[in-house]
Parts: sequence; structure tokens; C-alpha cells
Amino acid sequence: MAESSKRYFYITTPIYYVNDVPHIGHSYTTIIADALARFKKLAGAEVFFLTGTDEHGQKVERAASEKGLQPIELADQVVGRYKKLWQDLHISYDFFIRTTEPFHEKGVQKIFLKLKDKGDIYKGIYQGWYCISDEYYLPEDVPIEEGDYKICPDCGRKAGLVSEECYFFKLSAYQNRLLDFYQKNPEFVRPPSRMNEVVSFVRQGLKDLSITRTTVKWGISVPDDPDHTIYVWFDALHNYLTGIGYDRDETLFDKFWPANVHLIGKDILRFHAIFWPAFLMAAGFSLPQTVFGHGWWLRDETKMSKSKGNVLDPHLILRTFGADPLRYFLLREIPIGLDGNFSHEGFVHRVNSDLANDLGNLLQRTLTMIQNYFDGQIRDISEEEEGDRALRQDSEKTKDNVVQFFDSYALSRALEEIWSFISRINKYLADNEPWKMAKDKSLEQRLGRILLQTVRAIRVVVFCLYPVMPESMTKAWDLLGEHKPIEEESFSGLSFEGFQLDQQVKSPVPLFPRIDLKDFLQEEDTQSDQDKKEEHMDVVTFEEFKRMDLRVGEITAAEKVEGTDKLIKLEVDIGTEKRTMVAGIADVYSAEDLLGKKLAVIVNLKPAVIRGVESQGMILAAEVEGRASISFFESNIPAGAPVR
Ligand code: MSP
Repeated sequence: MAESSKRYFYITTPIYYVNDVPHIGHSYTTIIADALARFKKLAGAEVFFLTGTDEHGQKVERAASEKGLQPIELADQVVGRYKKLWQDLHISYDFFIRTTEPFHEKGVQKIFLKLKDKGDIYKGIYQGWYCISDEYYLPEDVPIEEGDYKICPDCGRKAGLVSEECYFFKLSAYQNRLLDFYQKNPEFVRPPSRMNEVVSFVRQGLKDLSITRTTVKWGISVPDDPDHTIYVWFDALHNYLTGIGYDRDETLFDKFWPANVHLIGKDILRFHAIFWPAFLMAAGFSLPQTVFGHGWWLRDETKMSKSKGNVLDPHLILRTFGADPLRYFLLREIPIGLDGNFSHEGFVHRVNSDLANDLGNLLQRTLTMIQNYFDGQIRDISEEEEGDRALRQDSEKTKDNVVQFFDSYALSRALEEIWSFISRINKYLADNEPWKMAKDKSLEQRLGRILLQTVRAIRVVVFCLYPVMPESMTKAWDLLGEHKPIEEESFSGLSFEGFQLDQQVKSPVPLFPRIDLKDFLQEEDTQSDQDKKEEHMDVVTFEEFKRMDLRVGEITAAEKVEGTDKLIKLEVDIGTEKRTMVAGIADVYSAEDLLGKKLAVIVNLKPAVIRGVESQGMILAAEVEGRASISFFESNIPAGAPVR
């Protein structure tokens, strides 16, 4: 039986940490999951799509205390942002799980006890290198320095060897069972290169895993031993069970477990491909079919992450261009197993060339011709000729290939396949030149046939693209004069002839306006309004304020950043050294205006790369209707003087 015709389909995304705001990387995993979930529904499966947030643990505890918030307050804020973003991106999840929900906590405790009773969880002594200042155990691969200590990679302080009582999971006992399972289920980890990575890691030997902490308070406590908190990964992975009804809704659970696919980024592969199946084996659950590890979106060749300050805020794109161009770009640009560099030029090119030109124009032209020549309704047609038949057959083939590619998670291949069919349709029109036939009444039936074949082919395209671009394809479906909602059509039911002779099409409206690189860059230079509002509402503690190093800086050099309207690159003397800073002020100040001027700067802001230039700080200026106004100090104020 073809994979796509299976009845139930359970798909998950990782649950996202709430110490970070959502960025393109998180959106990517969720968009892949959404496209697959929508595809599976159209392929006839009953789908459950789970996403959510990972709210416990030290990271969240620390991020909250830095903001002067309780962890749950921070979680509530960030959850709101995730949910809003998923709505804006048209993510059709069925359930949003939060690990702070009581049913999840109860479920995790129940499984913990079960494994403890079975002897797979036992109490022992954990020994590790502990950083007192950061309150955490250093990863094992941090080297031991001469003198027998390690250096904390986060704060650079010395870490000492510490022992504490904790609970362990007997991971070592599962090494052979895991290897055996991988061998029998080669599709458990995909793509195959990732499976090799996992197998060779397990072959090197597995140590028992410490799965509780006494140093972290923000988490689920160990039943009957509340000084111990369950390790955040043990807690989080079980969301895949509790989110689908474990210990809460047996019918739902039995229907959908085991999961068909856990979609994850490659950085969390070991947790999902080694720990997770071992936990499941221990507790007697069947194992998921596939863990799919996708690649990363990079910027300037490094992984986007908040700590690097190089994240791309999806709202910037969403506000100006909408969800579908972004969804299309992310899924089309790279095969999902590989890494990809996000470039503005790449995005603009894809939108203009693929969406506006190839697809948008085709739909626009075809509907316009049907309106102009037949009042929107083709009634009379000639027999199908060789070329017409070829187009019809191509559409069948395209549909079948698209189904196969979607089924094997090859989303970019599915899109390539659709685009080569779009080129075929465009060629069919160019070869037949219907606009010339329209002048000759005797060719009316032939003209009808050509436009009918074209619009039928377009309808297949629209349907195949719906999982990737649901909003615009729903509009296109409506323009084609369809009455049944697109979600009610199915891949098995979709036929070329489904577009009826006599079907009334609507007048076209542009679906994908062309975009300009300049708009995009300007968008990014100005921070999103929403961020501004939220920042405005955030309260900082005095402690937090004190951590900001604000000083007087003297501008010793200034030049415009090439290819931009607003950006100036400044060299700023901050008293102790000179720093490069990039500021979006060129629309108000010229380089000459700025030379020798003294102004307030923040110097301990994480550097960020802006248009290829590393900005090592930020100048402070008022902003009035998007334009900067800088307050300069008297010339006798020395560079480096603190600003309080
Ligand atoms: N909370 C854990 C997951 C627990 S699942 C039981 C976690 N959260 S995360 O918020 O840090 O990351 C979630 C996902 O986002 C990961 O799959 C990660 O790979 C993905 N991405 C984060 N940055 C990314 C890119 N720059 N590019 C693509 N995906 C990346 O890990």
C-alpha cells in the first residue's frame, strides 16, 4: 500500500524553548510539518499535528531571572508570541502542548515511576565538572586544564569536580537493542547520513544517563523525592506521548501512537534517535516510524541563533510579503536535509521569478483570456489533439510524482516537479498562441480547447501547491470557479477533467506582487513595530540596567555602507579602544556631519553583522517617524565618560 494512503498520521515538531523568541529557524521546522500535515490530509489520512513549548529547566529559569520575571511569566509571554506567529504563518496544528501543564507533568511522573519500579531508573552519584557561577555541569568534552580544573565555556571561570546524588536511566542496557532496532528499521533516522552518525555514536558505547538535578528547581519534581527535579530533556521528550492523550485520552492515544514522524533540527538528533527510543523501549511503548533531522538556516554561514545575534525575524517578511512567499522560499530553496544560507537576494529572486512571473502570470493571463474570449465560461471545444493529450498526461504524471516526493519528505523536489510542469504549461500556451486565434471566429472551438487544457492543468498545479501555500492557493481555487473547498478535494480524487466545461471562472486578482530588494532591506533595518511595542512594555530591573555599558563615544571616521540608503559605518572612539558601529541614519546625517561628533553609545551589546559589517556596539538616538535624531555632547566631554 502506498505510504500516503495510510489512515492515521501523527507528526510532531520539537517543542520550542521559551527563553528565546521565535525566529526563522523555528518557523522552518514548523512550516515543514504544516506542509506535510496538509498534504497527508489531502492524501486521505486522519492527521494529528502536535507542536508546543518546552518550558522547564535552567535556561528558562535563568532567562526569566535576568528579566526579573517568574519562569512561568516568561513562558506565558513567549507562548503568546509563538501562537501568534503560527497563526500568521497559517500553521494548522491540532494541539499546542506546554510542558508546564499539569496533565503533562503527571504523565511524566507516572512514566518516571514506572521505569524506577522496573529498575531502569536508579539512584546513584553523579560526578561532573560544575560551574558554581552558572550553576551547571560542563559538557564532558570540555578539556581538563593542567592543575586539574576545567574552564566554563560560558563564563570563563574555573569549574571544580563535584559529586551529587541523582537518578540515572540505564541507557547502557539499551545499546544492543538500539543497534538491533536501527538495523531492522533503516528508515528510523532520515536522511540516511544522519542514521550513520547515530549508529556510530551508539557503537562507541552508551553510558547511563543522569536524568535528575538537585541544582535546578524549575521543573517537574521526582515523585516521592521532591529535592530532585526531572532533567528537562526527559521531561520534554515525553510531550510526544502526553500531547496525544497518554494517561488522559486513551482512544486518541491508541489511534495515533506511534508517531509517523518527529521532525527535528539536526542539533537535537541524539536526544531523539538514541535517548527517546531507549526511554520508550524501557516503558514498553512502540517506537516512532521516523525521526527526520533537517538542516539549519544560516546567516553569513553560521547557524542563526539568539546568542549570536544573527537571527532573522519572520515578522519582517510576513508583514511585507505575507506567509506564502516565505513558506515557499524556505521549502523550495534547500532540500530539507541540508543547510542553507538565507539571502535576501535569493528570497527576492524566488518570489519574483517563480511566484510572480511563472505562476502568477500564467494564472492571470489564462483567466484574462477566458474572460475576454468566453465571458469566463468555455462552452464549446474541439477534439483533443496530440499536444493537448500530452499536457493532460503530464499533469497526471506530475501529480503522482508530487505525491511520491511529499511522501518521502522531499519537499523541494515536489516543488521542482510542479515548476517544471508550470514551464510545460507556459510552453503549451506559447506554442499554441491562443491570443492569435482569438481573431479568427472559425478557430473558436480550438481556442476553447487550448484554454480548457490550460486551466485544467493550472487547477492541478494549484491543488498540488496547496500544502505549501494554503492561503494563496485557496484564493486561486476560488478564482478558478470551484465551489467545493480545496481541503475537501483529495489527491486520489483530483482529475484533470475535474474542471468542468462550462465552469465559470472569476476575473483574476494578482496573487504574488513582485517585490523589490530595496523594500526588503529597509524593512530589516527598521525593527518591527511589534518588537518595539513589546520592548517598551518590558520593565528592566536596576541590576539589569547596570549591566549596560553606556559611554560617550567620539566619531573618528564615517562612511556609507554600499548598496544601502540608510546605513552608515562609523568608527567610534570609546575611550579604551575604537569600535566599528553600523547605524541606520544616512537619510538624516551625512558622513561629514558626523566626523568629530560625540554621542552616547552602548558598548557591551552583542556584536551583530549588518549587511556584512560587524557592528560592535550601537549609537543612541531618538527616532521620529522612522528618522533618527542624535543628541550630541559638548566637545569638551571626553570619549569614554560613562553615561548613566
Ligand atoms: N526544546 C528543545 C526541543 C525539545 S523537543 C522534545 C529545543 N528547542 S529549540 O527552541 O532550541 O529548538 C527547536 C528547533 O528549532 C530545533 O529543531 C532546532 O534545530 C530548530 N532550529 C533552531 N535554529 C535553527 C536554524 N537556524 N535553522 C533551522 N532550524 C533551527 O531544542
